[in-house]
Amino acid sequence: MASEKWTVKNVLEWTTKYLKKVSLSPRVDAEMLLSYATSQSRLWLYTHFDEYLNDDALKRYREFIKKRYEGVPVHHIIGKKSFMALEFKINDKVLVPRPETEELVERVIVDAKREKWLKIVEIGCGSGVISVSIAKYIPDCEIWAIDVNENAIALTKENAKIHNVSEKIHVGTYGMEPLSPDIVVSNPPYLTKKEWQELPQLHKEPYNALVGGEDGNELYKFILKRYSPKIFYFEIAHPFRQSLKNFFEKEGFSYEIINDMSGRNRIAVVRKR
Ligand SMILES: C[S@@+](CC[C@H](N)C(=O)[O-])C[C@H]1O[C@@H](n2cnc3c(N)ncnc32)[C@H](O)[C@@H]1O
Repeated sequence: MASEKWTVKNVLEWTTKYLKKVSLSPRVDAEMLLSYATSQSRLWLYTHFDEYLNDDALKRYREFIKKRYEGVPVHHIIGKKSFMALEFKINDKVLVPRPETEELVERVIVDAKREKWLKIVEIGCGSGVISVSIAKYIPDCEIWAIDVNENAIALTKENAKIHNVSEKIHVGTYGMEPLSPDIVVSNPPYLTKKEWQELPQLHKEPYNALVGGEDGNELYKFILKRYSPKIFYFEIAHPFRQSLKNFFEKEGFSYEIINDMSGRNRIAVVRKR
């Protein structure tokens, strides 16, 4: 990008082409980053295609595009992500929340409200999207949100505060939570090391948020042994891994696998037989 006069339209077209080499959604990335650089909405960009960008906005935008080209996720650059119609602060020390995880949260909320399950433990809270959304949408619940990453614990506390649910969520590490709550929910790190090595587009996100040991199942096994809730809800890898299935069966758990909207295995609802 030479330092000449750029209109919104020209700059979006140029960066969309440029980001094609590194992103599966170059146009959306370009729009989100330009919207952030100009402090305008994406709709504003569309209604001001012929407007020239000022030097400050262009300078900021260049820095963002450079980072994106180096593989930094858009949401780490803009520092926020919407999830369950709420806006969350995020940073590069936590996983960027995925839209598929909303289906796990929706399922927990529907079942918990129907069954009046109010005591909920979440393992691996990251930015806090799961716990904070549940706290927001289930009036009388009490949640224990656990992580081993201090940055995740701090960010979950911050997001709980932003959404006014701090009083309903205890955030910290192991030891403070009940071992027999109504629900244990988790989106654990579930890639195998080998799978991670083959996905370079994920390498700017924290390794410990993505890889669940050699077989990808480490945290599931730990959770299933440590807790005795009425029910567990897990996000799982697609296709549902045979080794995890074997573990459920060997240890006496019954399970239901639920697909997401794109027909991929996504949620395991698990109970002790
Ligand atoms: C896939 S991320 C999920 C983050 C967030 N809940 C979400 O859905 O976007 C997994 C999280 O588990 C945490 N984690 C990794 N190992 C853990 C362990 N042994 N105990 C608790 N949390 C762990 C990571 O720090 C990370 O925040």
